[in-house]
Amino acid sequence: MKKIVVLVSGNGSNLQSIIDACQQNRINGRIAAVFSNNADAYGLQRAEQADIPAYFINPKAYGDRTSYDIALFKAIDQYDPDLVVLAGYMRILSPEFVQHYYGRLLNIHPSLLPKYPGLHTHRKAIENGDKEHGTSIHFVTEELDGGPIILQAKVPIFARDKEEDVIERVQTQEHSIYPLVIGWFLDQRLAMEGNTAIMDGKVLPPQGYASE
Ligand code: GAR
Repeated sequence: MKKIVVLVSGNGSNLQSIIDACQQNRINGRIAAVFSNNADAYGLQRAEQADIPAYFINPKAYGDRTSYDIALFKAIDQYDPDLVVLAGYMRILSPEFVQHYYGRLLNIHPSLLPKYPGLHTHRKAIENGDKEHGTSIHFVTEELDGGPIILQAKVPIFARDKEEDVIERVQTQEHSIYPLVIGWFLDQRLAMEGNTAIMDGKVLPPQGYASE
């Protein structure tokens, strides 16, 4: 069975959606291990509750980003993953890490990329008066939040929305589309070639598949 390793920094609700999808056979694979840069990440507890090995690797124990990332990928490689999934992993990755998993490293980012890379995307969308926001799943390249997009989901922003309303609406979409994309990858329907995402042998458009 294909193996997934998931990296989390926080709540891990996306991790939970992937755990559930594996258990319900919506993903043809299993999560071999979960890693975090944050000892208090609730995602680590979710993994343990599902009998998945869960590890905290302390960034403070390493002198720089590269040595941390090398230690991280050596630990991940013990599990021989087919796919590495960033699910709310809030640490910038070194080029060494990205190269090591090139073409088998996915991220989910809460905006309709290329709009709003970086942090506080929901707040920025509200402040700019946007009528819609969303989330993007993409292959990871060395450009922050910049790799080829596979799938996006859009949600409306209503006049009275607070930041939490938009976060919740976006996350609901994330929980349905991340397992879907992970399933496509493990079924070998999805690949990265150069700087494009390929699905069923066809180049995906710059916004990937858009689901309203
Ligand atoms: C998710 O909404 C994800 O899109 C975002 O963090 C949240 C994690 O939630 N990721 C990023 O901002 C990465 N740049 P979760 O821990 O409940 O899955």
